[in-house]
Amino acid sequence: MKAPEKKIKLKEVSLPAFPGHCDSLLKKHLTAEVWALLADNSTETGFTFQQAICSGLEQPDSSVGVYAGDEESYRLFAPLFRPIIEDYHGSLGPQPQTDFSLVALPAVTSEAQARVQSTRIRVGRNLANFPMGPAISRGQRLEVEGLICDALQNLPESHQGKYFSLSAMPKEQETDLVARHLLFKNEDRFMASGNLMRDWPEGRGLFLSRDESFSAWVNEEDQLRIIAMKRGGDVKAVFALLADGVAALSEKLDFSFSEEFGYLASCPSNLGTSMRASVHMTLPVIGQDEASLKQQADALGLQLRGVHGEHSASEDATYDISNQMRLGVTEVEAVTHLISGINHLAALDIEGKPKMVGDL
Ligand code: ARG
Repeated sequence: MKAPEKKIKLKEVSLPAFPGHCDSLLKKHLTAEVWALLADNSTETGFTFQQAICSGLEQPDSSVGVYAGDEESYRLFAPLFRPIIEDYHGSLGPQPQTDFSLVALPAVTSEAQARVQSTRIRVGRNLANFPMGPAISRGQRLEVEGLICDALQNLPESHQGKYFSLSAMPKEQETDLVARHLLFKNEDRFMASGNLMRDWPEGRGLFLSRDESFSAWVNEEDQLRIIAMKRGGDVKAVFALLADGVAALSEKLDFSFSEEFGYLASCPSNLGTSMRASVHMTLPVIGQDEASLKQQADALGLQLRGVHGEHSASEDATYDISNQMRLGVTEVEAVTHLISGINHLAALDIEGKPKMVGDL
């Protein structure tokens, strides 16, 4: 006799609650069906679905709200992760392509140059065959640090410098490096809720080139953040510096890359190029009205932050402005997008009044 077909019974009562106001992508896409399907799942590294969504539940002001523990998270938890990824980056296009060539970059206008204090471009990377930060063990994290330190030896002469372990760093040096935007902060509650700050500060560190224009963060939100930063608005020079560093490290390290999502990152917002190209820019006129500037930036596909990092407030009409989309574009396209966007904002600032993008 044929067994009666099993119907999935949706456990609506147990769908987790989000305390207070919450606009995260997690809340939007965690439906009763998704919950019923995934609630009890875990990947081979032992990373559970509940761990993946823990940060968004504990921190209702999250914008995304989930972290992946490993490559498999992106496959196994796809019923939740895929809609979040498409919501953040736009629907998935053809296979991700890497392009660090310099030739196609447009110029930053003199009006934009005049408003930009500094330029910073970073990419995130994780090592293939290791769990990512939310699921990595203490021993594996140290192993990753060792592999990265070895690879840093391969940097060209222009990028050479020194590795500082966070465990051995005097407090004053740490404070100074954070203040100069060279080092990550030790206090990200989103990461803490996402299991990313276990054993802190062990295994974490900063590589800094002699002139401090090239750096690498080790075992923070991603195992590696490769960063180029310079004063002023020479975006092309910063991009070139980054490209050379990435090329040298790629020769020595096997990075986690998926045919579908490009370079894998612990946060779905950083998939694809995993590139955030940003400037610190003062917009004396349109910067006065933060809400309207935020609307402008959204319409231009740009992200607006305060100058003291993510979730910080802006000061004196100065903002950190970066590309929102990291997946479905090449590196050159992501940077081109930033340049066109800041040129546009500078033009609006000269006109002297906030205008919607469509009005130009
Ligand atoms: N988990 C945080 C949130 O959902 C961070 C989101 C994007 N930023 C990042 N550093 N990955 O708000």
